[in-house]
Amino acid sequence: MKDQLDALRLEIERDVKAAKSLEDLEVIEVKYLGRKGELTSMLKGLANVTAEERPVLGALANQIKQDGLDLIAARREDLASSKYSALAETERVDVTEPGARPPEGHLHIMTHTIREITSIFEKIGFYRTRYPEIDWDWYAFEALNMPPEHPARDDWETFFMDAPISKKGKMVMTPHTSNGQIHELQRHNFPIRMIDIGKCYRRQVDATHTPMFHQFEGLFVDKGVNITHLRGILDYFAEQFFGPGRVSRIRPHHFRFTEPSFEVDISCGICGGTGIGADKKKCKVCKRGWLEIGGAGMVHPNVLKACGVDPKKYTGFAFGWGVERVAMMKEGAKVDDIRILYQNDVRFLKQF
Ligand code: PHE
Repeated sequence: MKDQLDALRLEIERDVKAAKSLEDLEVIEVKYLGRKGELTSMLKGLANVTAEERPVLGALANQIKQDGLDLIAARREDLASSKYSALAETERVDVTEPGARPPEGHLHIMTHTIREITSIFEKIGFYRTRYPEIDWDWYAFEALNMPPEHPARDDWETFFMDAPISKKGKMVMTPHTSNGQIHELQRHNFPIRMIDIGKCYRRQVDATHTPMFHQFEGLFVDKGVNITHLRGILDYFAEQFFGPGRVSRIRPHHFRFTEPSFEVDISCGICGGTGIGADKKKCKVCKRGWLEIGGAGMVHPNVLKACGVDPKKYTGFAFGWGVERVAMMKEGAKVDDIRILYQNDVRFLKQF
């Protein structure tokens, strides 16, 4: 029996050495040392040995069991650590490696342009205001010298709201930012140097119009303000926004809320206002040296009166036009269809 036990010890040692995984060790332990394992069944043979041999063989068997368990434990540790070092090799993560950058967006060209216009005017003492984009008829028309039923209203393609009518008339989605002039004048906080930028709405959709668009409205009212101040500010804007050398000009026009009224043009950046291109032919961009951008004029006395301002004491000018238009002009972008600004196509938007 001693020989059998010695042989078992050798088998255990050999198998443990050969084990390649934690699972192998499990099997070895059960096979040799488990409750129904080989050592247990061998111990049954103790019944047949002499009384002197029994304690000696019993002790040997225990020793073999203990040594076997120790061997298995040691091998288990080896295998476990080599398993992790193998894992560390195959699944290595270099935490110091720079990460992959997710795609980054940027502000919409309209937001950029609005911020730029705001800061250009802030430099010369204007402040930005926001006035309602849905307002009463009185602010959008009547106080702007357009009484009910006046034909001049037809120009604005107004959206009327399905809402109760008040003393100030129907509610409208503002067709221009000129209602801001009225709100600001009513504050009687002189000098007024307002730049009001907001959304406007008109019932028109085609390649050059979106039903929602942005305007900015300038208003400068104080004692002694005259047309030369308007000219100066328009030239300042032309140069700041469009670049050095660009100038403005005004042409007579008609608005109900200004008198006199003008249309404002900016000199063409391609032909420098001459209307003649580098090829000595008509400039392809402007055809006549100038690009029309919007309206302006001296605030009509009736508008001042409607806001409780004495036109004999205060005078001023207003101007206003589309943000989309100047943004596209500035970029020199020839867009076939202005609606692309609001179609959220990143291929278009990321260019600006
Ligand atoms: N409100 C006019 C428009 O929408 C522009 C304008 C503003 C004209 C201020 C004169 C003065 O076209």
